[in-house]
Amino acid sequence: MASKEPLIITGKEEMRRWSRAARAEGKSIALVPTMGYLHQGHLTLIRESLRYAEAIVVSIYVNPGQFSPTEDLSTYPSDFVGDIRKLRSISGAGVDVVFHPKDLYGYGRSNSSKIDENRSEGEVVSCVEKSGNGHETWVRVERLEKGLCGKSRPVFFRGVATIVAKLFNIVEPDVAVFGKKDYQQWRIIQRMVRDLDFGIKVVGTEIVRDDDGLAKSSRNVRLSPEERAKALSISKSLFSAKLAAEKGQVNCQELINSVAQSITKAGGKVDYAEIVDQENLDLVKEIKSPAVFCVAAWFGNVRLIDNMEINI
Ligand code: PAF
Repeated sequence: MASKEPLIITGKEEMRRWSRAARAEGKSIALVPTMGYLHQGHLTLIRESLRYAEAIVVSIYVNPGQFSPTEDLSTYPSDFVGDIRKLRSISGAGVDVVFHPKDLYGYGRSNSSKIDENRSEGEVVSCVEKSGNGHETWVRVERLEKGLCGKSRPVFFRGVATIVAKLFNIVEPDVAVFGKKDYQQWRIIQRMVRDLDFGIKVVGTEIVRDDDGLAKSSRNVRLSPEERAKALSISKSLFSAKLAAEKGQVNCQELINSVAQSITKAGGKVDYAEIVDQENLDLVKEIKSPAVFCVAAWFGNVRLIDNMEINI
C-alpha cells in the first residue's frame, strides 16, 4: 500500500479540532510522543500504534522542561525533514498527523525564565519564572520519579509528565504508545494516567536493538565508533544477568556486581545499576516476582540507558 503524507500541525487549537473531527468520524486516535530524530525504535512504536487505533498522531517536540541547565538540550539532535521522510516510509495505514508545536511550556530556549536547580534534601525546590506570566504548573509522580534516572536527573520526570499531560489534553488520544527502553518514564505515565483519570490506554513496546544488541537511541549518534563498541558491554552484561537469573541466580547484589564490573571494565562509568519491581519500581533484593534490571552508564560524554525484564 502507498505510504501516507502526514499532515503537519503546529497549533494547539488546530490539533484539538483535528482530533475531535476524527473522533466524530468514529475513529479512535493513538498518540506517539517523541522528541524527533526518529530511529527504528520510534518507527516500531508507530507501527505498534497502528494496532490500537485508526488515526495516528506523532508528536515531535524537544521538551526544554525535561532538561536541566547542565544537560544536553542544545546538542539534542534534530532533523525534522528526515523525520517526515521516515514517517512517509511507514507502509500500510501510516501516520495521519505530525503535531509539531513551537513552544508548549513557557520557559527554556525561547524566553527568560529559568529553573533553579538548587536542591534541598534531594528535592528540586523551585522553578523561578522571571517573566511572571510563564507556566508554573507541574505534574509530578512523586514516588516513582525519585529512583533510577530521577536521582541524577532531578527535573527530568516532572518535565516529561507535564508535557505528556499537555499533549494528552491537546491531542485527546484514546491510546498513547511509549517505549519500554524508558522503563521508568513508561511506568510514570501509566501512573499519572491512573491517578489523574485520563481516559487513555498507555501501551509499552519492547526495546528495539541493533543487531549487535545496543538499544536504539537518538543519543547513539553521539558515540564514537570506539565508544559504541565499548557500550555494547551494557546489553551484553544485561543479557548474561537475565540468563543467570533464569538459571537460578536470584541474588540481586551478585547480578548487579557482575553487570557493573563488565561496564566498568569496558571503560564505561556506571550511573546506576539496579533491579526493581516491574510495577512499583521498588528495589528488589532477591528476584521472586517480575523484576527489571535497569542500567544507566556514561561512555565518553554520552549517557545511555538500557534495561532487561526478568520474568521468573
Ligand atoms: O521519550 C521521549 O522522547 C520524551 O521523554 C517524551 C515522552 C516525548 C516527552 O517529551
